[in-house]
Amino acid sequence: MREKVKTCIKGLDEQMTGGIPQGHVVLVSGMPGTMKSSVAYNILFNNALLEGKKCLYISLEQGRESIIEHMLGLGMDHTKVETLVSIVDMGYLRLHMEEQTSEEQSWMDIFKMYAENLRTNTEYELLVIDSLPVLELLAGMNDRRGDLFHFFGWLRELGVTTFIVVESSADTIAVKDEDFLADGIIRLKKERQGYDISRQIVIDKMRGTKHSTGLFTLLHDGKEFQLTRAIGQ
Ligand SMILES: Nc1ncnc2c1ncn2[C@@H]1O[C@H](COP(=O)(O)OP(=O)(O)OP(=O)(O)O)[C@@H](O)[C@H]1O
Ligand SMILES: [Mg+2]
Repeated sequence: MREKVKTCIKGLDEQMTGGIPQGHVVLVSGMPGTMKSSVAYNILFNNALLEGKKCLYISLEQGRESIIEHMLGLGMDHTKVETLVSIVDMGYLRLHMEEQTSEEQSWMDIFKMYAENLRTNTEYELLVIDSLPVLELLAGMNDRRGDLFHFFGWLRELGVTTFIVVESSADTIAVKDEDFLADGIIRLKKERQGYDISRQIVIDKMRGTKHSTGLFTLLHDGKEFQLTRAIGQ
């Protein structure tokens, strides 16, 4: 059996027989503000802190400093893991590389080269790409299904476990190409309950693993994420 990568969300790993099989490409999907980036960073932060794993967080929309500040607010002090977790703001890099980029070399080629070089040099095991819609935009994908198919194939060859942040709009039931291509989908939701907001998490799919399909309440107590109860069980 493949080794598992822990999400380090208290109570979640038990719901999928110990965690996510190593090498999987997993979507972290949800509407704006459902804590997709926080959940993704939380996985890297804790795997670095507890298991000494090297990680890469590629941000394409939110600035590096803004991420660090946000995560500190959630009790995750990046300075504790900065030798293991690299946060790279590729959106910023994109803005400043424009003039040097030759016509033949596409943004996607540069993105891949960057991730491959870092993989060789730092041997990171966990990768976050935040987010897929922005990657598509910057890469100028024309044939979405075909381009994503190749991109997911490239990620698997990279030999890391990947978390791709995906933004979903209104609670549509439409299934997208990436839902079929991914090995796993962790879906985040939020719901207004009177004055408060209740957050939920569900494992929609996790290939090669027996997992719960229940809808759980996701809490953050200022220090860590944890599941409370399955809704409707
Ligand atoms: N200190 C905190 N404690 C608990 N929750 C917080 C704290 N700071 C921010 N939040 C919540 O986190 C949310 C943002 O988290 P995050 O950036 O991870 O979400 P996201 O889904 O990635 O958002 P976006 O769609 O903008 O990328 C805020 O909307 C807020 O509800
Ligand atoms: Mg985000």
